[in-house]
Amino acid sequence: MPHIQIKDFREVAFPCVHDGVEFDFIASNVKFPDDKLICAKSEEKTFLLQLKHTQEKWLLKSDKVTRVSPNLHIKRAIQAYADKAGLETLFSNLSEKELHHRDKESALKRIDFFAESFPEAKEIWIEVGFGSGVHLLHQAKENPDVLYVGIEIHKASIEQVLKQISIQKLDNVLLLDFDARLFLEFVPSNLVGRIFVHFPVPWDKKPHRRVISKAFISESIRCLKKEGTLELRTDSENYFAYALETFLALTQSDFRVRKNQDIGIISKYETRWRGMEKNIYDITLTNHELSLPIENSFDFSLTGKCTADLLKLNGSTHRFENGFVHFERLYTMNTGDYLLRLSMGSFDKPEHLFLIIKEDEALYFPSQPIASHTNFQSHLKLKALLYG
Ligand SMILES: C[S@@+](CC[C@H](N)C(=O)[O-])C[C@H]1O[C@@H](n2cnc3c(N)ncnc32)[C@H](O)[C@@H]1O
Repeated sequence: MPHIQIKDFREVAFPCVHDGVEFDFIASNVKFPDDKLICAKSEEKTFLLQLKHTQEKWLLKSDKVTRVSPNLHIKRAIQAYADKAGLETLFSNLSEKELHHRDKESALKRIDFFAESFPEAKEIWIEVGFGSGVHLLHQAKENPDVLYVGIEIHKASIEQVLKQISIQKLDNVLLLDFDARLFLEFVPSNLVGRIFVHFPVPWDKKPHRRVISKAFISESIRCLKKEGTLELRTDSENYFAYALETFLALTQSDFRVRKNQDIGIISKYETRWRGMEKNIYDITLTNHELSLPIENSFDFSLTGKCTADLLKLNGSTHRFENGFVHFERLYTMNTGDYLLRLSMGSFDKPEHLFLIIKEDEALYFPSQPIASHTNFQSHLKLKALLYG
């Protein structure tokens, strides 16, 4: 994680620009004023830097909720702030060489890219949890006419595969750092040719975190075009049994089960399991349905004067049938407005984000919640809590 340690912290005059990075505001935690957030913008990516005071030193690093990839933007912002404020650096893990490297159009997209206008020009294939990317890179190379969307939540894997996409000069891959279970809600109906879920984490002790569920299969069927496939591959006997039961629970389905099949490419995980002589199971579902288009135009605006006592709400959790809103932290901004860190949405797929509360409106930061049904219910709950 990019960071620097500094002796003393100094505030710059906000807003300002330095070395191509814009710094818009600073905010201080109302309970712990030495916990601060600085808003940075580098090449259209907006995120927060976090400043913490520990053992007579200050640590300037990336905030977890708004963290962007590639982390080059974070590194540039930390360095630019340190230079602008003339901070005395005690330790830095930012590399000089990397800081001066300029980005080409990145294959890594934000969820907004897909939520605003899903690319539909080419056939779409989706890989959930691509890990080391061996299967993803192989399929993208073999199928240049397909647009391959890889979804992963592990940052180091994303960075590694981004490098490979650039080295191998692949122009038909888009990556997304997002929970795949939430992503499918944004995919138009009847569009996708293949969805791969290879060696998902079995989560034997936390089954609610599993990718495969009844809801995920139903959403996959909606996204798949006619004769499109959802392809699960697993080495876990438990996960296989669970998945089989879940596929069978559908009122109507057409799927095929195979054992120890060679699929022409062996991922890092598969190499490990083969070495241990474990069985490998495939469940391939074929869709025969034509689904209705999705409806997800939700209004996430919050206008008017906030009437709630924010200090009282700070730290509280508000539940409703399918989800919740949790007021995690409250900050005061240099502009006189409030910044609220929230988690909201469904219990197993919560979203973390910020809200800037101004005199006569409130704005989600850095972008509004993803337009899912549960997020919208959480938004309505939040609206009622803030505006009565
Ligand atoms: C066991 S690894 C398998 C990686 C790869 N498919 C392979 O065969 O080598 C599972 C991967 O799924 C990712 N993952 C787990 N839950 C996810 C989710 N909800 N959305 C996207 N990726 C997820 C993990 O970060 C991990 O990289």
